Amino acid sequence: SVIFHAQAQTPKQNELQDVRTDTAGQIETTDTGVEDNTANSLRAGPRGYNLLEDTTVRKKIFHFDHERVPERVVHALGHGAYGTFESYGDWSNLTSACWLGAGAESDIFTRFSVVVASNGGSESGRDTHGFATKVYSQCGNHDLVGNHVPSFFINDGADFPDLVHAVKYEADKGFPTGGSAHTTAYDFFTQHTEGTFQLMTVLSDLGIPRDVRHISGNGVHTFRFINGAGQSKLFKWYWKPMLGHRALVYDEATKIAGKNNNFQRIDLYNNIAAGIYPEWEFLVQLFPDDGTYMWNGIDLLDSTIVIPFEMNPPITLGKMTLNKNPTNFFAEPESISFAPSNVVKGISFVPDPLLQWRLMSYDDTANHRHNSPNGYLLPVNRAIAPINNNYRDGYMQPLLFQGASTSSPNDIGGVIGASLNNTINGTLPYTGTPPEVIDGAIGRYPNLRDSFGQARAFWATLDKYAQQHTVDAYRFELGHVSDTDVQQRYINNILNKVDNCLARRVAVGIGATLPPIGSGPNTESNTTTKVPSWYPLTS
Ligand code: HEM
Repeated sequence: SVIFHAQAQTPKQNELQDVRTDTAGQIETTDTGVEDNTANSLRAGPRGYNLLEDTTVRKKIFHFDHERVPERVVHALGHGAYGTFESYGDWSNLTSACWLGAGAESDIFTRFSVVVASNGGSESGRDTHGFATKVYSQCGNHDLVGNHVPSFFINDGADFPDLVHAVKYEADKGFPTGGSAHTTAYDFFTQHTEGTFQLMTVLSDLGIPRDVRHISGNGVHTFRFINGAGQSKLFKWYWKPMLGHRALVYDEATKIAGKNNNFQRIDLYNNIAAGIYPEWEFLVQLFPDDGTYMWNGIDLLDSTIVIPFEMNPPITLGKMTLNKNPTNFFAEPESISFAPSNVVKGISFVPDPLLQWRLMSYDDTANHRHNSPNGYLLPVNRAIAPINNNYRDGYMQPLLFQGASTSSPNDIGGVIGASLNNTINGTLPYTGTPPEVIDGAIGRYPNLRDSFGQARAFWATLDKYAQQHTVDAYRFELGHVSDTDVQQRYINNILNKVDNCLARRVAVGIGATLPPIGSGPNTESNTTTKVPSWYPLTS
């Protein structure tokens, strides 16, 4: 039977209520609605063979055989909750995105995840953590698909499969050499020096957050706001946790992971169940959209670097509160599909070569995971805004589109297409960039590289305890790399270019050759700041 809640609900919760099925106290049926006993096989006598005619139990076993869908290729381990997003004001000067309009309140779902671990792994491992939010707004779904740190390992999507292959289990062995760190990963990181800063943040205390209530969300890329007048600004977005940040030291993390793989999801679930709702403020840094995609000498198309908050203080646009646990783990956090390509009018993209591939990859993988282009019509994914289009059919199509017309435009009563009379400078309106002139020579260009500058600045502003934890993490990781040439290359070609003392401290801990004193920059003396104040995560 369908549950009907007496209390007032939000639009998305109202929609979900129609599909929430409560079997408690109901007479058992088959999935064709026929009353039957599915717990005892139909047999030829109490000790005889099972009958082929036992279609009831046969269907039960068939269903079970097909229960697993493929896990996410990355970020497989995750959980999440529903909540609300409240816009603090009228941001129509920046964007026509309705969920940032005056007084706008929207339903949301946020899924937290761990990148490398598979389903069933530990949530307390050292990793980049995912922070993905779907805003079910009145003008359509908007997905904010970010991570818990503000930079990334690579800046060209072409390298993403290689990065992921390098950090998951090794292809020949089926496990990473030495545990959580391995030769393929560090071989990759010696080749891709642009990831040096991101790797250091993950090897610092930031890499082992205590739980998801104390992490940030970071959009990483630059995006584009467009207002109703067609004016644009570039922005980077952040979720700032109202509870501040908390991390574990490695010893705590290994003990927690050993005792309870699900520490983070239990923490979130129990807090929400107890009415202690975690909140995050939505912050954006703004930059002029002047066609250069540069700001104060920093490349806005390079996801491996950040724009310090000190240089460009963010403004706060609204607040998210997580206040409702899912009621079906498979149908909600597992089946939700996020995609950076899911944007509403008023928010658009820039030519960041990492982002551009993401705009393709998530829709593609959603088709793969749901085995259908209709995944966006599953209850957890479906927009509360009306869905009217000419997409038809496909596996598991849940909607009964009415009428004969399946084309646009049409004169026989189908959907009303965009008006051809509505051109601005000769182009028709669409949810995208205002007219932009693109001019460039076609080619495969080398990756953008600012390899060591921000890593050095990050290292230099950690206090001595945080530095020691980071040195310990490098020692642990590199110490488990089975190929000593890779170890030495990472020390000489990467760490020694960040900081000579850091490289020597790591080398001495793993029995590698120490780079000579003075052979790299030395920032050791500047270790007084407790939290790097320039870093976007600073609370
Ligand atoms: C998940 C691809 C970079 C954040 C995924 C998934 C794919 C993917 C295929 C699995 C999605 C699913 O099965 O539902 C890529 C590609 C990238 C890239 C091709 C680079 C070109 C990034 C970056 C971020 C990020 C830079 C952070 C800003 C996430 C998050 C999830 C995810 C949070 C989990 C979403 C969820 O909770 O369902 N990514 N990714 N990814 N990715 Fe990426």
